[in-house]
Order: sequence, then C-alpha cells, then structure tokens
Amino acid sequence: MRFSNHLIGLVNFLTFLLSIVILGGGIWLSSRANNTDCLKFLQWPLIVIGASIMVISLAGFAGACYRNTFLLWLYLFVMFFIIVALIGFIIFAYAVTDKGGGRPVTNKGYLEYYLSDYSGWLRDRVVDNQYWADISSCIRDSKVCPKMGRSFNGVPETSAMFSMRKLSPIQSGCCKPPTDCGYVYVNETEWDTSGGMIGTDADCTRWSNDQQQLCYQCDSCKAGVLGSLKRSWRKVSVINIVVLIFLVIFYVIGCAAFRNNKRMDNDEPYGEARMTKARPSRIHM
Ligand SMILES: *[C@@H]1O[C@H](CO)[C@@H](O)[C@H](O)[C@H]1NC(C)=O
Repeated sequence: MRFSNHLIGLVNFLTFLLSIVILGGGIWLSSRANNTDCLKFLQWPLIVIGASIMVISLAGFAGACYRNTFLLWLYLFVMFFIIVALIGFIIFAYAVTDKGGGRPVTNKGYLEYYLSDYSGWLRDRVVDNQYWADISSCIRDSKVCPKMGRSFNGVPETSAMFSMRKLSPIQSGCCKPPTDCGYVYVNETEWDTSGGMIGTDADCTRWSNDQQQLCYQCDSCKAGVLGSLKRSWRKVSVINIVVLIFLVIFYVIGCAAFRNNKRMDNDEPYGEARMTKARPSRIHM
C-alpha cells in the first residue's frame, strides 16, 4: 500500500536482527565472565543496550504495521538515545582497555603480563582488594590452571615443550611464576624454588606450589586478567562498531521514510475527501 510504511517495517525488522547480534555479544561476554575473564559487571551495559534495541525495534515494527504514528515517533525518539548510548559504550570500551598487553619473553612461546603496563579505571577496579578477592576465587574455581596439565603418550609435558606453548593471559599470569624468578619447571603448576629467586619481582615471593594458591595473589595475575579483558572487549567492540554503522544507516532510512510518510499525510486530500463522501452515503442508506 504505502511504500514508506513497508520500508519502516523492513528497517525495524533489520534493526531487530541487529539487537540479537548485540545481545549475543553481551551473552558471550557474560559466559566468559563466568569462566575466563572473571569480571562480572562489564557485560551488563551491552545486554541492556541490546534488549532496548530489541524492544524499541519491535515497537517501531508494530507502528509500521498498524500505521501507529505514536509508536513510530517513540521508535525514532528512543532509538536516537540508544545510538548515542552505543557510541558512548564503544568509546568507553576502547578507553578502559587502551593501555597494556603482554611482553614477549626470550625463548618462550608465551607472553608475560606486568601490572605496571596497565593504568586507569579498570586497573584500579581489578586491583581493589574487594574485587580481587572475588576475581581470584573465580579464577581458582574455573580450574583454568589445573586444566593446563598436558601429557603426551602418558609422558608429562617437559620444560622444553612447556616453553613453546602459547598461554592465555590468565594462564601465563596466574598459573606459573614469572620467568624472571628463575624457578625450575617441574610441571605446569609446580616449580622448584629451592635454587632461590634471581629476580627482584615481588611476585616471586607470592608464588606458591600450593595448588590452591599458585600465583593467584601475583600482580602478574591481575595483569593477566586485564590482558584477557582487553582481548574480549576488543572483539566485542569490533562487533559493536559494525552494528552501530548499520544501526545509523537504518535510522537515517527510517527517519527519511517517516518524514515522507508525514508529508504524504499532509499533502493528501484523500482522507478528507473519503470522509466527506462517506457521510452522505450513510445518510442515504
Ligand atoms: C603438578 O604436580 C603437583 C604435585 O604433584 C600436582 O598436584 C599438580 O596437579 C600438577 N599439575 C598439573 C597441571 O598437572
């Protein structure tokens, strides 16, 4: 019937599909929050934004289907603020994960993580004693360190093989002592400290062969958590930027179609003509 309404409906439907992508990103982050990242509040903004887009695009879709101008207005109005929120969130995600990364270690396949490479709000959050108590017990419960054990045909992994491994930031920071300490490899989570420590890194004294302790109190572990967060947040941000671009395109199309709709309503003498004609015909009957 009316081209603009169909277009608004289509745009809303596509926006609805986008909201599923954003929600998926939030849910992926929260599943990571429970096993690898161990930080449980960062996925909520994403889930809230995704759910808002979902609800408001359904409202817009209904508005287009039932030609309800109020719902269309509501859609355009609320969507504007959602787009602003998403832009703010993307900037925030980049800003808090701006600094830091792993440092390469000579003759090792893995990177090592140093708290001094990180700064800012997220670092202060992770380092905070209260938060760290939760995060470190989450890492312990996730069993990420015990799961590192590997053996080949029943032979436990040797030091040489371990050196070539690629470790995740948390595995590298939390499950083994820093290489600088000069401890000797026994297995993935046990290191011979009898030779004494070489480095001056405070983490060397924090390391424990107690399988419940390991390096969970080390600064390297905090840095590993930050490194892990940085990776997963960057992945989500890439998805968010793509979603944002489509969202803006759909929004602009929706706005144009809505204006076009309004103009047609105003220009068209159709509605009035029909009404004035209808009245007498009823009277005649
Ligand atoms: C390393 O050895 C200790 C002591 O034997 C053991 O408790 C621990 O589970 C081992 N670590 C791995 C990852 O297999």
